[in-house]
Amino acid sequence: MQQVVFGLIGAGGIAQSQHLPNLTRAPHVTLKSVCDVRPDALQQAQRQYAIPHATTDYRSLLSDPEIQAVVVATREDMQASLTIEALQAGKHVYVEKPLASTSDECAAVVAAQKETGRFVAVGFNRRFAPAYRKAKEIVAAEGGPWNIHYRLSDDYWRWGKSYPPRVRVIHEVCHIFDLLRWLTGSEAASVYCVESRPDDEIITLKFRSGCVASIMSSGYATMDLPKERLEVITEKGAVTVEDFVELRTFGFAHREPVLRFAGHTHPDREFTHKYLFEAEGAAALFALRRMGWALRNEAEAADALSGEPAPDAQEMRRYLNQTGPLWNYMVNKGWLPALDHFAERILTNEKPENAAAEDGLRASVLCHAAIRSRDNNEVVSLNGFDG
Ligand SMILES: NC(=O)c1ccc[n+]([C@@H]2O[C@H](COP(=O)([O-])OP(=O)(O)OC[C@H]3O[C@@H](n4cnc5c(N)ncnc54)[C@H](O)[C@@H]3O)[C@@H](O)[C@H]2O)c1
Repeated sequence: MQQVVFGLIGAGGIAQSQHLPNLTRAPHVTLKSVCDVRPDALQQAQRQYAIPHATTDYRSLLSDPEIQAVVVATREDMQASLTIEALQAGKHVYVEKPLASTSDECAAVVAAQKETGRFVAVGFNRRFAPAYRKAKEIVAAEGGPWNIHYRLSDDYWRWGKSYPPRVRVIHEVCHIFDLLRWLTGSEAASVYCVESRPDDEIITLKFRSGCVASIMSSGYATMDLPKERLEVITEKGAVTVEDFVELRTFGFAHREPVLRFAGHTHPDREFTHKYLFEAEGAAALFALRRMGWALRNEAEAADALSGEPAPDAQEMRRYLNQTGPLWNYMVNKGWLPALDHFAERILTNEKPENAAAEDGLRASVLCHAAIRSRDNNEVVSLNGFDG
């Protein structure tokens, strides 16, 4: 099988949990080089994944003529400029979301993509989640979406501390803006956002197709609660998806009432959840999350009692942090198929189905419209925006 030669810029959190293992197992990909400004992360990645070349200088990676495509996974402050440099060096680019912090930077990537004619994929991987591809197919065949609710909730209060308050909409909710555009095949005409406290928000959208949608984004949930839930009302029935593992249909006599989807695994970690989710769907997910939550509570209580990491909590911590599934990445949100599809389309020179640079820009416009709506307490109209 033909393979595209990739380089990876940024070997941090998402690279370790997704891009490094996926770049080394996707059928249409071979990973030649990795770059990070942190030598420790770099060496660890190179050793663990047997990558032929490693560098702290991204320009040296971009100047390698053998490298055809790069994954950019630094952070939103640099991703646009790195993408533009990579495009100008003749590379195709898979860049993590959000494409940039500002819409102007996104527009510059759109311009560079057009100028160079290379492909850009933005890491809105949910478009490739098997459960969502099936949901889209069913919804489209049943009269299309009329009313959508999406809940995106997690313990951001724990993991999102490196971000300033009130920007969760830019780097988390951007995924859902893209998903809604993809599901409806339509553009938002207006957006309205209210918050109960910073990073605890409801966003409502009206699409040009007539569909309405609400997003409940909460950064104050618990790992006991599955992170995402999609509910779509179609012409006369409904489709729900519980955290990528269980799709249910309602009101369609000719359709399967329940479909279940396998979990996503990391090569180094325990993998039985993959089969449990496939066989038992949401019930297995609820049970596994409850177990992880309870173990973490016990470990934290033991630490609090002894005033330091408690030896008798060691086994629990090892399971939670080193052995068990990667909790945020155990359901299949489409990371691997999104990357492999991109590589395959580079080989055939056909436009990929991934979110393109324009989609990154449109998601950014929605993020900033939601923030403007929230801050000024007004409905923001987007009818004038044509990208
Ligand atoms: N699609 C998803 O599901 C998903 C999940 C998590 C994060 N993300 C996105 O991925 C991006 C990265 O997030 P993260 O959590 O991995 O961040 P991170 O901070 O853990 O990793 C970023 C890495 O980039 C490196 N870096 C920074 N500047 C560099 C440069 N000039 N050259 C080379 N390396 C450089 C840093 O040293 C760090 O190791 C963010 O945009 C984030 O929103 C996407």
